[in-house]
Amino acid sequence: MSEVHVHRVQPAWKKNALIDNDTYLKWYADSIKNPDRFWGKHGKRIDWFKPFSKVKNTSFDGKVSIKWFEDGLTNVSYNCIDRHLKKRGHQTAIIWEGDNPYDDKKITYNELHEHVCRLANVMKKHGVKKGDRVTIYMPMIPEAAYAMLACTRIGAIHSIVFGGFSPDALAGRIVDCESTFVITADEGLRGGKSIPLKENTDKAIDIAAKNFVMVKNVLVVRRTGGRVGWAPGRDLWYHDEVATVKAECKPEKMKAEDPLFILYTSGSTGKPKGVLHTTAGYLVYASMTHQYVFDYHDGDIYWCTADVGWVTGHSYIVYGPLANGATTLMFEGVPNYPSQSRFWEVIDKHKVNIFYTAPTALRALMGAGNDPVKKTSRKSLRVLGSVGEPINPEAWEWYFNVVGNGKVPIVDTWWQTETGGILITPLPGATDLKAGSATRPFFGVKPQLVDGEGKVLEGAADGNLCITDSWPGQMRTVYGDHDRFVQTYFSTYKGKYFTGDGCRRDADGYYWITGRVDDVINVSGHRMGTAEVESALVSHDKVSEAAVVGYPHDIKGQGIYSYVTLMKGVGPTEELRKELIAHVRKEIGAIASPDKIQFAPGLPKTRSGKIMRRILRKIAEDDFSTLGDTSTLADPAVVDDLIANRQNKK
Ligand code: WT7
Repeated sequence: MSEVHVHRVQPAWKKNALIDNDTYLKWYADSIKNPDRFWGKHGKRIDWFKPFSKVKNTSFDGKVSIKWFEDGLTNVSYNCIDRHLKKRGHQTAIIWEGDNPYDDKKITYNELHEHVCRLANVMKKHGVKKGDRVTIYMPMIPEAAYAMLACTRIGAIHSIVFGGFSPDALAGRIVDCESTFVITADEGLRGGKSIPLKENTDKAIDIAAKNFVMVKNVLVVRRTGGRVGWAPGRDLWYHDEVATVKAECKPEKMKAEDPLFILYTSGSTGKPKGVLHTTAGYLVYASMTHQYVFDYHDGDIYWCTADVGWVTGHSYIVYGPLANGATTLMFEGVPNYPSQSRFWEVIDKHKVNIFYTAPTALRALMGAGNDPVKKTSRKSLRVLGSVGEPINPEAWEWYFNVVGNGKVPIVDTWWQTETGGILITPLPGATDLKAGSATRPFFGVKPQLVDGEGKVLEGAADGNLCITDSWPGQMRTVYGDHDRFVQTYFSTYKGKYFTGDGCRRDADGYYWITGRVDDVINVSGHRMGTAEVESALVSHDKVSEAAVVGYPHDIKGQGIYSYVTLMKGVGPTEELRKELIAHVRKEIGAIASPDKIQFAPGLPKTRSGKIMRRILRKIAEDDFSTLGDTSTLADPAVVDDLIANRQNKK
């Protein structure tokens, strides 16, 4: 690697920092040498009804079993609310900033307690019990956080489905975890446009019923007042229900390894899998990373721009910050509404100190020039964060120089839905920064690079990223399918957790994530399995075959490129192209919309029928000088047609 611009830790970053470089090195060494002692100590950062005596009990071999703090009893909502009440009952827990800049509110910890208790009592009243699955399909309003916390209070397992997903996708997730209680809103509101959440829920429930999962109740928050359909007996208005129950609800004593939530995520094969996180280890890890990675101090105003439908929203809007007694900002809107300055205006309005967003948003805002940024002050900012995909050095430098005026450290945090919390990241007062590198492992994290055959690579190297030992925030299983868990993450390289990411380690031991090495693509920081888009395409009756790959996209990071073979007798038209895009949106949601569709009379296959994606990726990238060996193809001539009709011709 040539010419990497190193940004050394500035004196101001170190001044009040929780962790300096010596402390990082010492703690890291301790955490690796003696994980039981290290996590035994940090496990006490949360409150326990019954303390744990065992710390780590994990194995990545054979059947794979992951347990942390297993004999302790605790409760997540107690830790995120009740334990703060004495000291910070009147402190703001949640600042809510609406889609409309004139719409905002603040919720104190006392108020949060009452909202969560009431909602928990509503769920109990309607028969929701410990271990039941509750699906949450909500806009970014405080009730989404109340719903999550209310589930944890009574020991119900929540499964949040991002509000941008289609009725079909929602139905699939309801059916997979057999969820019979759904919490939603009449409509969502983003960028001035409404999203028909209740209508989508109604459709999803019908689809679920055909798959023998009967939703008993739908609790509906009134957000816009838009007209919605109503099934009497099944559907309940949130505001009516919470008014009828008590404002107190005792938190359930939960075992450390009791399930906390399920979150569906895409993989390289098959349907999305239900990533299962459990109670104590997750909370210890989410809160600890939130504190040290963002150098969070008491009184800081913290804003993560993610949606609660993704893991970032779980760990770093709700659980991590609230467990730390923080003030967390929840934003309903989008970065460019009503203007390109929205993010920076919100930062000034609420005096945000810590700001955490995604490279795709930064690239889009960067495209609007510096003026929308420059007209705001941003002087409250102390730490900037990035997550979701590799941040290209240009976007990194813009974030640093323009947004942060060259004075604020950037933490580029690498992690996954599966990891529960951040695994590779700088610490603001400790780590010299390199634009585009997630830098070094967090405490307790043991990264390893291996080649395609599993040979361990030492020193500066480029390979596949594995983690060789467990950390408390790690997922425990795929809901209902432990074999799939073992198969997906622990079978490629025996005894190691395989992340699916490619990665380079430089001579300083810094990690540079290079992107997925499996058939997962990352579109605007959203994870998409190419297989899912393919199966949506082939479910259209005019499509006989489809292959989907990612290609570099200036704003989204990766775009979705689909090769589609039509049924005999069906002609490729512009109209059909639009119809197929609409079809994928209906099947999965707008985030899965193909950016490019190439009608292809044939796909490049080996004689045994395997599609050679390597070739398809190259053609989608408009780089076919190095297609490699095509002689093993059943019909090498298809490649010429694919090249001639490529959609990304420069
Ligand atoms: C994949 C996980 C975990 C938060 C949101 C995404 C990519 C995530 C980074 C980063 C480079 C990153 C990886 C990872 N990714 N953060 N800082 N640098 N790549 O969660 O949907 O589970 O996706 O996102 O490819 O495997 P997710």
